[in-house]
Amino acid sequence: MLRESLPKVITELPGPKSKEVIERRLNAIPSAISCATPCVIDRGEGAMIQDLDGNIFVDWVGGIGVLNIGYSHPEVIEAVKHQVDRYFHPQINTIHYSEYIELAELVNKITPGDFKKRTAFFNSGAEAVENSIKIARKYSKRTEIITFTGGFHGRTYMAMTLTSTVKPYKNGFAPLVPGVHRAPYPYTYRTDDNIPKEEVPDYCIEQLEKILVDDVAPETVAAIIIEPVQGDGGFVIAPDEYIKKLRAICDKYGILLIADEIQTGYCRTGRLFATDYWADYGVYPDILITAKSMAGGLPISAVTGRDEIMEACASGELGGTYGGNPVACASALKVIEVLQRDNYAEKAVKIGEVCMKRFEAWYEKYEFIGEIRGKGAMLAFEIVKDRGTKEPDAERVNRIMTACKQKGLILKNAGPFGQVIRALMPLNITAEQLEAGLSILEEVLEQEV
Ligand SMILES: Cc1ncc(COP(=O)(O)O)c(C=O)c1O
Repeated sequence: MLRESLPKVITELPGPKSKEVIERRLNAIPSAISCATPCVIDRGEGAMIQDLDGNIFVDWVGGIGVLNIGYSHPEVIEAVKHQVDRYFHPQINTIHYSEYIELAELVNKITPGDFKKRTAFFNSGAEAVENSIKIARKYSKRTEIITFTGGFHGRTYMAMTLTSTVKPYKNGFAPLVPGVHRAPYPYTYRTDDNIPKEEVPDYCIEQLEKILVDDVAPETVAAIIIEPVQGDGGFVIAPDEYIKKLRAICDKYGILLIADEIQTGYCRTGRLFATDYWADYGVYPDILITAKSMAGGLPISAVTGRDEIMEACASGELGGTYGGNPVACASALKVIEVLQRDNYAEKAVKIGEVCMKRFEAWYEKYEFIGEIRGKGAMLAFEIVKDRGTKEPDAERVNRIMTACKQKGLILKNAGPFGQVIRALMPLNITAEQLEAGLSILEEVLEQEV
């Protein structure tokens, strides 16, 4: 059974059947929608995929954080089939349907904060980002938004403007959306001024306060949007001291705090939400946005917020034809039930422990690893040319990823220079499959010495 298999590559990659499809792809779809993995999937189960040529891979990308529950979970398939048999899409502004309401009630209940909340559903992460900003502006009657260096929020115009890195995300797409300001994210390994790690949170708070003096008046700022752990930015974890002070600044000036948990949400970091860690010290976002692993692969995103904030918009001011479609809602309801019932947060913690132990050994051994980091099963390490200068080494990253794929491990990089190797394996990966992935990676790292 594929679900229990280990990686096994039996042809050259790509194999002949995959090669034929990849060649057609190159001719049929824009090159901007690119893919460097040398196989075409035939089916997927758990953490494993089989390609058209019979090669088996362990997938440590999981649809970029979509597959916390893995491929083809049988209970999710059943829930989707049941929904498809009843109806596809009455449309929430046209006919009431209970899946949308039931899912909103559930998300309101499970997201951090024991206060009344409401949730609206959209189709993608970027759409949730867009709508969180619309809602924040409407509620606050303010225009300005603060975002962060290294942040990634999507590819629509506002989401792209909020996103940090110019190439490839914003290159040539100007003019962008006005009213967006950028503060330094507390990236303890890399700050512009090479500040010692322990001083980075305070340094970044000072920089934010400077922005509120030099760049934008605090009473005009509607919201600050932050990823608790940056995803595309390289799995950079915002320290708790920073988050506490950030919340205090928001409270001081009446600025809303939006947590973008599109990649961190639904058990990835070892809790149901990364903001559950914030709640331990009494910090809550005013608006929380989620997507990706929520429905295990069907397109849906959520904007969840305090009652009074979510009620700021009038009838017709929010929505979209497909937002919260019943098939995605049915999938999400089952995914969340399974994540909670089968304690996927605990699985993430265990995966994190196993991987970090290996990463620590690699850090000792391989000079080209600059830093290792992780929260739960959101795991990464940086590849550098020199530990002293921290110069990123994207070339080596690409070599490592290519070699891993050839041996049956699918990996993706991250970080502003492409210098970070990240792992987002499905959380129901077996211990043997996890070990197989680690062994492949170790073999490849060893070849780099
Ligand atoms: C933190 C974060 N926000 C927003 C997005 C955008 O989501 P989508 O690609 O579904 O529009 C992503 C996608 O990677 C993300 O990781």
